[in-house]
Amino acid sequence: MTKPATFLDALAGTGARGVRIAKESSKVVDVTLVEFNQVSMQIARKNARKNKVEARCEFVHKEANAYLHSRFGRLERFDAVDVDPFGTPAPYVQGALSAAGDGAIVSITATDTATLCGVYPSVAMRRYGARVVKSEFAHEAALRVLFGFCARVGGVVDMGIEPVAAHSTLHYLRVYFLVERGPAKSDRSLKEVGYVATCGSCHDNTVTPIFMAACPKCGSKARSIGPMWVGRLFDEEIRGDAAALCTKFGWRGAADALQALEGANAFPPFGFSMAAITSREKMSSVRFQKVVDSLKASGRSAMRQPFGLSGLKTDAPYQEVLAAVRLSSN
Ligand SMILES: C[S@@+](CC[C@H](N)C(=O)[O-])C[C@H]1O[C@@H](n2cnc3c(N)ncnc32)[C@H](O)[C@@H]1O
Ligand SMILES: [Zn+2]
Repeated sequence: MTKPATFLDALAGTGARGVRIAKESSKVVDVTLVEFNQVSMQIARKNARKNKVEARCEFVHKEANAYLHSRFGRLERFDAVDVDPFGTPAPYVQGALSAAGDGAIVSITATDTATLCGVYPSVAMRRYGARVVKSEFAHEAALRVLFGFCARVGGVVDMGIEPVAAHSTLHYLRVYFLVERGPAKSDRSLKEVGYVATCGSCHDNTVTPIFMAACPKCGSKARSIGPMWVGRLFDEEIRGDAAALCTKFGWRGAADALQALEGANAFPPFGFSMAAITSREKMSSVRFQKVVDSLKASGRSAMRQPFGLSGLKTDAPYQEVLAAVRLSSN
């Protein structure tokens, strides 16, 4: 008989996620739910009982980081680890990596979205050791800064990460990544960490391995965002399988978020905002699809940004984007 997979719900609350995993997974999964609030833990137990998965669930009344770090250097690690705190996940990332087995999936929620999106740079520096600014691709940058942070923390414990999926929904951000143990894996994933220098003058963006104070295109002052993950943002095969499964089950929100990612790996790790461009250029609104079609007609690639309503991803430089926007203006 194959051994059940193991899932750690490290900040379990009333068990919504953990109980659901135990009940709905296509595989048999043993779930460990950790929570330091007694009342929440009791409700989580009740939920497991009501859903008839109590036998698959272990409840641990403990501080999350104490539990996560208690796995460090031990063999009993998990196939999947979920971290869903209130606010920043930064204090739990090293513990989550320590509790994850080789090849495990770690999923992390961040609700300090404004901080990661560039609204509070000093807080982002303190929590994530990263420079953030309000950019035209703020939500993508936020997810990439979070992945970059996880990769750098992985370096501390000789582990590499490989992004599997990411989304920005309502007030929160969520990243999923695969972990690979070993210093070589860690070194390899750190090669995917860099900066995007975004220019307020020529409005172009440049991927760079180091912090840049000047725009390499026009020499004006640039604002560099990072360290951030500048590599692939998701695994195409897993994304496609997961999207098909969500569609089959009628999970519209999840299916849409996964569908929106399709093709995005082929683009640079930044984007442009139609709303920002039209406001800056004092133009009326544009038909988004017309901009995409116009760029494609001139031999460029373009798609809707997966993480924002008016965002565009393209391999075209800003001047070409602007020309396409002008052509598509209402
Ligand atoms: C956002 S809620 C989790 C929600 C849950 N994942 C769900 O899907 O319903 C965060 C939970 O973490 C618990 N918590 C916060 N800090 C903790 C810590 N250091 N150790 C253990 N539990 C903690 C809180 O009591 C709260 O129940
Ligand atoms: Zn410039």
